[in-house]
Amino acid sequence: MKEKLEQIKAAALDEIAAAANSADCEAVRVKYLGKKGELTAILKMMGGLSPEERPIMGQLVNSAKAEVEAVLGQKMTEMEAKATEQKLMAETVDITMPAKVSKRGKLHPLNTVLNDMIDIFQSMGFDVVDGPEVETDHYNFECLNVPADHPARDMQDTFYLGENLLLRTQTSAAQIRTMENRKPPIRVICPGRVFRADEVDATHSPVFHQIEGLVVDKGITMCDLKGVLEQFAHEIYGADTKVKFRPSFFPFTEPSVEVDVSCSECGGKGCRVCKGAGWIEILGAGMVHPNVLRSCGIDPEEYSGFAFGIGLDRLTTTRYKISDIRLLFENDKRFLDQF
Ligand code: PHE
Repeated sequence: MKEKLEQIKAAALDEIAAAANSADCEAVRVKYLGKKGELTAILKMMGGLSPEERPIMGQLVNSAKAEVEAVLGQKMTEMEAKATEQKLMAETVDITMPAKVSKRGKLHPLNTVLNDMIDIFQSMGFDVVDGPEVETDHYNFECLNVPADHPARDMQDTFYLGENLLLRTQTSAAQIRTMENRKPPIRVICPGRVFRADEVDATHSPVFHQIEGLVVDKGITMCDLKGVLEQFAHEIYGADTKVKFRPSFFPFTEPSVEVDVSCSECGGKGCRVCKGAGWIEILGAGMVHPNVLRSCGIDPEEYSGFAFGIGLDRLTTTRYKISDIRLLFENDKRFLDQF
């Protein structure tokens, strides 16, 4: 029995030495030390020994088991260390590999121009306010001195969403909301998207952008309007730009004007950009109609004001010489990457 024990131990130690990985080690453990393992089996055979032999043999078996366990344990630790090392080797980062370049986002040209405009008006003391894109007939037309059946409604082809609900055709609705919520002195601009059922072509889009401006205070005159808008035109287009105020009509302003600037491309001689006119129209404006002030609870005898609406899209296409307004809305990365 002693010999048998020696044989088993030697065989186990040989197999441990030959084990190439932790799975091999585990197989050896099961084979010799497991419940049905060979060293365990030998303990069970001890029933046939005499009482004197039993403790001696028991000790021998236990020390053989302990030896195999110790050697196996050490081998397992070695195997694990080796496995970790191999894994680390396989995972080394090659710091000389070229990095993936991630593309940086940038501002849409409309936002670049809008930010410039906000800077200019903020420096003149204007606040920026926001208004809803879905408006009621009341704010978009009624309060702006355009009652139902007024011919001026035909100036703007409206997308109606219901009897009284529509997509705002002009940011002018924000004038009313502002006057309802603030007391004069008022100095605000409201940039935003507006919608009109226009035919789509190189200069028309059913969605475009306006910046509405409103000033209401005691003693505001047409001179203030001219001063603010001239200053704006000079800052946006350059100090040599000529500014022309043409009489016009808007139901919510009286008197009303449209403002042209000398073409920045040809300096006023006439070119493709200004369609030979030498001038480019950039905004509509006027003194706020007394009816509009009254509809917002402001006494026109005490206060006066002016309002203006600037087309952001035209300003952007002329600044960047973009030939087709539709390019601004298609979100084609090849186009946007150029700015
Ligand atoms: N809302 C006008 C338009 O869309 C522009 C405008 C605004 C005119 C404010 C005068 C005053 O055409």
